[in-house]
Amino acid sequence: MLDDVTPALPAAPLNLGDYEVWPPVVLAPMAGITNVAFRRLCREQGGGVYVCEMITTRALVERIPKTLKMIEFGADEKFRSLQLYGVDPDVTAAAVRMVAEEGWADHIDLNFGCPVPKVTRRGGGSALPWRRKLFGRIVRQAVQAAAPAGIPLTIKMRKGIDDDHLTYVEAGLIAQEAGVAAVALHARTAEQRYSGTADWDAIATLKQALDVPVLGNGDIWEASDALRMVEHTGVDGVVVGRGCLGRPWLFKDLEAAFAGRTSQELPNLGEVAAIMSRHAHLLVDALGDERHGCADFRKHVAWYLKGFPVGGELRRSLAMVTSLAVLDDLLAQLDGSEPFPRESLGQPRGRINAPGKVSLPYGWLDSRDDDTVPEGAEMENSGG
Ligand SMILES: Cc1cc2nc3c(=O)[nH]c(=O)nc-3n(C[C@H](O)[C@H](O)[C@H](O)COP(=O)(O)O)c2cc1C
Repeated sequence: MLDDVTPALPAAPLNLGDYEVWPPVVLAPMAGITNVAFRRLCREQGGGVYVCEMITTRALVERIPKTLKMIEFGADEKFRSLQLYGVDPDVTAAAVRMVAEEGWADHIDLNFGCPVPKVTRRGGGSALPWRRKLFGRIVRQAVQAAAPAGIPLTIKMRKGIDDDHLTYVEAGLIAQEAGVAAVALHARTAEQRYSGTADWDAIATLKQALDVPVLGNGDIWEASDALRMVEHTGVDGVVVGRGCLGRPWLFKDLEAAFAGRTSQELPNLGEVAAIMSRHAHLLVDALGDERHGCADFRKHVAWYLKGFPVGGELRRSLAMVTSLAVLDDLLAQLDGSEPFPRESLGQPRGRINAPGKVSLPYGWLDSRDDDTVPEGAEMENSGG
């Protein structure tokens, strides 16, 4: 299951407040993906920070049962990392205070990177840093609400709305001034969505501009990419999203690479099938319902099988699975001895959509210093 890769650079632990994180690796928050089941699967492979799905501050404050369920962590999750989405400084601070007082998490990240039109159209996510005063108020109040519990607060953002409306350096400085423990940059604009390549030079620019730790995000497909990003940008840590879809073992490679070891996991199809089955079982346990757990697992099937020679009919059946027994039966039909498809290494996976004009509220770009809370931008549902 192991293969050699190019020699790695040793790196220092990542400091988030009083916490020391080793290796300096973060599983990116991914709505619909990084639930307790997927996090466990990844955590078993290596160290780092494993962020939960995005949680809406409004839903948390209103104690919506589905949202409270989503912030459940495994009993063995030592550094419980929660991502919040909010646009209202008071609601965001109330949500952070709740997390702190109820002892629900050890780390809070704020989402300022979401490019989804229904979010940006109302001034949320990646649209928000443009309104720098409002952005500063949200981050300041959140940091203050987290401080009494010693919870490090971080932010995750994009480069800006588009190439003519870049915000990342200014937003990073505002967040630093507000007292964040670290700043993560997904080095694309909202307009790019997931297209093109991440601009690692922008990550280097941000690292140069800030004193707090900077985390780089975008297009880490293999452990060697993480080391290249560190070398290229000088960042204090890396955030890995799509690269681990269908490949939770990437975190083992990342840990090895940051420790200067030269190994790479290349599971054969039998080993991948065992992980798929375990993933589905964990989802069923987490969701407490077999049909629901299996339905949630379906989106992962194509990622796990990417590049393996598996027939169309078997793939389709796996992607429509309704019970664990059927899943295990179908997985048993795979040829377990198939070696890992090397040609899929280093290739993009997951979302790779086209760029698109960013929907914004009327007049949004004309008034950077307006700190009115945008109406209707507080989503009711978490994980969107
Ligand atoms: C399915 C999916 C869901 C995502 N959900 C979130 C989210 O809830 N919060 C967030 O900050 N970023 C979210 N992202 C963005 C990722 O955290 C990450 O910034 C992005 O995928 C770029 O990193 P990568 O190139 O390593 O994938 C999501 C990405 C994907 C593919």
